[in-house]
Formats: sequence, C-alpha cells, structure tokens
Amino acid sequence: MDELKIVRSSEKYAASYCETFDEVAKEGKFLSISGGYPVEDIIRFIRSCRQCGYPQFLLVEQGGRAVGWCDIVRRCDEPDDVGYLGVGIAKRYRGMGWGSRLMTATIRDARKRGFNEIRLEVRASNYNAIRTYTRLGFVKIAYKSDGVVTDGIPEDVWVMSLYAREITAEGFDRENFFGRFPKVRFKK
Ligand SMILES: CC(C)(COP(=O)(O)OP(=O)(O)OC[C@H]1O[C@@H](n2cnc3c(N)ncnc32)[C@H](O)[C@@H]1OP(=O)(O)O)[C@@H](O)C(=O)NCCC(=O)NCCS
Repeated sequence: MDELKIVRSSEKYAASYCETFDEVAKEGKFLSISGGYPVEDIIRFIRSCRQCGYPQFLLVEQGGRAVGWCDIVRRCDEPDDVGYLGVGIAKRYRGMGWGSRLMTATIRDARKRGFNEIRLEVRASNYNAIRTYTRLGFVKIAYKSDGVVTDGIPEDVWVMSLYAREITAEGFDRENFFGRFPKVRFKK
C-alpha cells in the first residue's frame, strides 16, 4: 500500500479532500452529514482555516491525493482557547495508526496556536473512534441524547475533551469546567 505523509492543508488538495470527505460521509455512520460539500466550499474552508489560524492537516498519498483530514476550529459560542476537532480517514487506511498520527500533528499545532482545550463530538456507536480518542488522552465529559440527526435519524453523541490548562495547586476546577456546558445533559 502507498506510503503516506502528513501535510499542512492547501487548496491544491481540495479536489481529493472533497472526494475523501464525501466517501466517509456517505458511509453514513460517522459524520454528522451523509454526503460531502461542493469543492468550492472545501476551498473556502481551507482558506478560512488558514486566515483564522486554525490547524488543518491532511493525510496524502505519494501521488498527492488527500485520503484523510483533521482540523481544529473555534465555535462562536465557546471561549477562544477551545477548539473542536474533526477527523476522517479513507476506509482502506484505517486501523494502521494514521488517524492517531494525523490527530497528534494537528493537536500539537493547536497547542502552539494557543488552544488550551480540544473537544470533539462523536456518535455513541462509533466505538473505534472513541477508543482512538481515549488512547490519545481525550475523556468523555458529556452525553447528548439525540445529539446528532442525520437524514432524520437521531443518535446520541459523546462530547470528549483533551484539556491542557494547568491544574492549579487547588486542583481541577470542576465547577468552572463543567459550568461551560449549559446546554448538555451530563451522564451520571
Ligand atoms: C476514527 C479514525 C479517524 C481513527 O483513525 P485510524 O487511523 O483508523 O486509527 P488508528 O489506526 O490510529 O487507531 C487506533 C486504534 O483504533 C483501531 N481502529 C480505529 N478505527 C478503526 C477502524 N475503522 N477499523 C479498524 N480499526 C480501527 C485501530 O486498530 C487501533 O487499535 P488498537 O488500539 O488496538 O491499536 C478513523 O477510523 C476514521 O476515519 N473513521 C471513520 C470516520 C470517523 O469516525 N471520524 C470521526 C468522527 S467523530
């Protein structure tokens, strides 16, 4: 199988990134949508990540085809140092350590850019992904019943977090930390 490399995203990969995203979305089990975006939207997304300073890396085959993506972006209703991670790898390259490497590169870059906490949302049924995130240090912090609705079908979602703020002498500020999730119901 082709040797792969991890590269910073750029417009020259937009077409294959677009196709890979579409492939993964159409599997229907992993992402919040069941189909991809037009290539113009992908180009706009790549540009806005660069302009906003959001880390975005791609997994690329020797021939220059993007077969995986990982990005960390801000959400307007969250603090500035919190980033949300999105990731996907073409089916034929899963389970070989590439996803972990790609996420590690993206998270490292996010740290340098001042993100202190990385969160993600994952379908409760996506055991492989949850296991991979857990091995990278993410912890489950909240559970959203019917947190995602794809093609009219609701599914529960875990919110997971990788928290890098220093834990002070007083310890982990649980009140403050969990107080940041007013809209989600916490699993007991
Ligand atoms: C989740 C994902 C990015 C993980 O990347 P990956 O390259 O498959 O993961 P790694 O090889 O680094 O895996 C780490 C572990 O999970 C296993 N694993 C993860 N996903 C797997 C898959 N789809 N098939 C087989 N094994 C998988 C690996 O074998 C490995 O197991 P280990 O703990 O025994 O070593 C990737 O599987 C993927 O793109 N899945 C579909 C899209 C998706 O779920 N995106 C995330 C939405 S929140």
